[in-house]
Amino acid sequence: MQVTLGRFITLEGGEGVGKTTQSALLAEALASRGIAVVRTREPGGSPGAELLRDILLSGATDWAPAAEMLLHFAARAEHVAKTIRPAIAAGQWVICDRFFDSTLAYQGYGQGADNAFIGSLIGMVGIVPDLTIVLDVPEDIAAGRMRLRGLAADRYERLDAAFHARVRQGFREIAMANPCRCVLADASGAIQAVHTAVVTAVLTRFAAS
Ligand SMILES: Nc1ncnc2c1ncn2[C@@H]1O[C@H](COP(=O)(O)OP(=O)(O)O)[C@@H](O)[C@H]1O
Ligand SMILES: [Mg+2]
Repeated sequence: MQVTLGRFITLEGGEGVGKTTQSALLAEALASRGIAVVRTREPGGSPGAELLRDILLSGATDWAPAAEMLLHFAARAEHVAKTIRPAIAAGQWVICDRFFDSTLAYQGYGQGADNAFIGSLIGMVGIVPDLTIVLDVPEDIAAGRMRLRGLAADRYERLDAAFHARVRQGFREIAMANPCRCVLADASGAIQAVHTAVVTAVLTRFAAS
C-alpha cells in the first residue's frame, strides 16, 4: 500500500505580524477541503519542547546567545521527532507557527549568534518545510497589534525596536535567499486579505502535486 506523505508548512515573521491568527485560519481552510491538519508551534509543540518553551520565554534568566540558540534546537529536535515527523508520515499536513527561520532571524540577525553555526544546526534538524510563508509588516503596525492583543509580553516581545527591526530584516533576507521554499507576504492588510494571500500561496505551491 502506498502511503501519501503529508505536507509541512511554516508561518514565520516577527511579533504581531499575524502568524497565530493566520495559522488558525489556514488550518480551517485546509480542513474544510478534507485535509487532515495538525497545527503546532515553536518553541514547543511536544511535551518536552513545551517545557523548554517556558524556560526560553519566561525571562527567568539571561542566556549567552549560543546557549539560547542551542536550547531552541533542543526543543526543535523533540518537536520534530515527537510531533512533526509522525504527522507527516501519517499523511497529515502540519502547519507550524515558527520554525528554524525564527532561530536564524532572532538569535542570528537579532542577537548576533553565528549564522553559519545556526545554518549547520538547521542542516542537522533533517527536515525542511515544503513551504514557508514569511509574513511581513512594518514594525509600527506590528507593535500596535501587540498592544491591542493585550497579553503580557514575553522575553522577546520586550526587546527594543532596534532588535525587532533586525529581526524583520533577517526574515526578509531569509525569504529572498530561499525563493523556492519561501513566499514573502505583505501582511499589513486586513486579516481576511492576508488569509486569501496565504491560501493562494499554499494552493499554488501544492496544486501540481
Ligand atoms: N491583518 C491583521 N490586521 C489587524 N489585526 C490583526 C491582523 N492579524 C492579526 N491581528 C491581530 O493582531 C494581534 C497579533 O496577531 P497574532 O496572530 O497573535 O500575531 P503573531 O502570532 O504573529 O504574534 C492579534 O490581536 C490579532 O487579532
Ligand atoms: Mg503568535
